[in-house]
Amino acid sequence: MFSHHPDTMKTLCVSLLLGVCVLLLSALTVPAVSLSVSPNLQQVFSGSSVDMSCVDDGQTADGWTVKRTRGGLTEDCGAAPGFGRLLGSYCVVDLSAPSETFWCEDSSGQQSDNVSFSVQSDTTDKGVILEIPALPVRTGSDVILRCRQRNGATAAYFFINGSHHGLKPEHIITKFQHSHEGLYSCSTDQGGKSPEGFLRVRDAPPLLPCESVLRLVCHLVVFCPYCISTGLLLSICCSRKTYRRGQELDEDYNDITADVTTEHAL
Ligand SMILES: *[C@@H]1O[C@H](CO)[C@@H](O)[C@H](O)[C@H]1NC(C)=O
Ligand SMILES: *[C@@H]1O[C@H](CO)[C@@H](O)[C@H](O)[C@H]1NC(C)=O
Repeated sequence: MFSHHPDTMKTLCVSLLLGVCVLLLSALTVPAVSLSVSPNLQQVFSGSSVDMSCVDDGQTADGWTVKRTRGGLTEDCGAAPGFGRLLGSYCVVDLSAPSETFWCEDSSGQQSDNVSFSVQSDTTDKGVILEIPALPVRTGSDVILRCRQRNGATAAYFFINGSHHGLKPEHIITKFQHSHEGLYSCSTDQGGKSPEGFLRVRDAPPLLPCESVLRLVCHLVVFCPYCISTGLLLSICCSRKTYRRGQELDEDYNDITADVTTEHAL
């Protein structure tokens, strides 16, 4: 009877798990369109171009357009003169204005988060930029900040919220946390100071709930037969012991009656 038990349990657990997964996945697929930026850098030298697209969970989000605001006007990529070339689902933008803000929007007016760039327009070799992500950083990931002049990356002083952190080739942040958010900049001896850039955090999506459920079910499937067999063994041992103790009592009783009979015989 017990030999069938683990298999039945497994099938039951797996079908239950599948049901739960389907429910959770359907609940999780709420559209969350975001602006994707490549290269993911918030400070650039003038004349650099950047590819932007609207993505939903890594896929192109149909019906969404890259927009920007400039001088109080909102413009569509590819439609406004001087704003972007459409290349498939990408909007290729040559960054030249000192500061611009971009986001994705659909026809119903829903908007993604926005992204801003600082453009270093100094055309001499002196201008300095901080290589800092344009998009929010996922909690738990590592970030490497470098300081760059037009002729390449260079050792620099890094400033975090205004306070100074030694001369070094790069600033590394491991396991990005909410407390790492702040204003970052760098400066070099020859090139001076970069603009300040705000590093934002975004909570990493939780481990897919099904993954942890799956692990739990695996443990249960392994653990159940173990519990059942342990229980069986224990119950068999216990019933043997009480049987033996009963026998021993009988023997004791026989000894006593034997003693009594011998006493009477005396
Ligand atoms: C960008 O987003 C921030 C925060 O959501 C908002 O305060 C700001 O007004 C937005 N900027 C533009 C230009 O839309
Ligand atoms: C920078 O300042 C903000 C606001 O005071 C603080 O929340 C954040 O933790 C600071 N960041 C760092 C890296 O110290």
